[in-house]
Amino acid sequence: MVEAVQGAGVVVTGAGGGIGAALARRFAAEGARVVVNDLDAGKAKAVAEEIGGTAVPGDASTIVDDARDALGGTIDVYCANAGVGTGGTEAAEESVWELAWDVNVMAHVRAARALIPGWLERGSGRFVSTVSAAGLLTMIGAAPYSVTKHAAHAFAEWLSLTYRHRGIKVHAICPQGVRTDMLEATGTAGDLVLRPTAIEPDDVAEALFRGIEEDRFLILPHPEVAGFYQARATDPDRWLNGMNHVQRTWEAGR
Ligand SMILES: NC(=O)c1ccc[n+]([C@@H]2O[C@H](COP(=O)([O-])OP(=O)(O)OC[C@H]3O[C@@H](n4cnc5c(N)ncnc54)[C@H](O)[C@@H]3O)[C@@H](O)[C@H]2O)c1
Repeated sequence: MVEAVQGAGVVVTGAGGGIGAALARRFAAEGARVVVNDLDAGKAKAVAEEIGGTAVPGDASTIVDDARDALGGTIDVYCANAGVGTGGTEAAEESVWELAWDVNVMAHVRAARALIPGWLERGSGRFVSTVSAAGLLTMIGAAPYSVTKHAAHAFAEWLSLTYRHRGIKVHAICPQGVRTDMLEATGTAGDLVLRPTAIEPDDVAEALFRGIEEDRFLILPHPEVAGFYQARATDPDRWLNGMNHVQRTWEAGR
């Protein structure tokens, strides 16, 4: 049991399935009171019933007030997990780019805007961002996803460095492939780079809880991502050549 989580009021967005549902189950198992959010009301309700939590369906950007009410006035932990796995190149429609910005980035900004003043006042709060290894590295064939996940990571990093001396904890979860509906939708690019090392949603929840116990910002459920991230920073052209090799392998197989 993680002491910081027992009895805490926790919100998990996009928790009707996949990683969000695994986070919600784990928080509930650790003794937290959990609000389960999802755009899909039926899925949110099913997970909430299973774990003895409360369903607050709707767009992740709009639910902070209702979630706070459901938890009796205070949110201790907010998991900005809902995401859209929008693929495509620079040629993707404006609406595709807008949806990726809205769900993968702005929902986090809007939640923080609603939560941070109260957290600063009481000197505590925990913001968990489900980013992706694509937010540290990239995802072939998915420009809107890669760009917005980099932004989500940048925002989490900014929150952490700005408020860490004022009692606010931030964690950025950056997995590669995880066996969820989103992975199913990544097609041949996912088959090439994600599926071979894919892990279970519960593994992501376990990595987060290790990170909470160790008070770590960066949560890497695939530890090898640390080496890739370092290689990218140390020699960008070498890293880009390697990723271009992956791109060409993908193109040749399509
Ligand atoms: N599956 C992977 O390989 C993988 C890897 C790295 C990061 N991630 C990230 O993990 C998070 C969860 O993804 P997942 O793999 O569990 O996908 P998933 O498709 O199984 O679950 C995502 C859930 O979010 C909900 N959702 C979508 N838009 C929403 C919105 N605006 N408001 C509320 N709910 C919304 C969906 O209805 C769905 O139930 C995402 O942010 C994703 O980018 C996934």
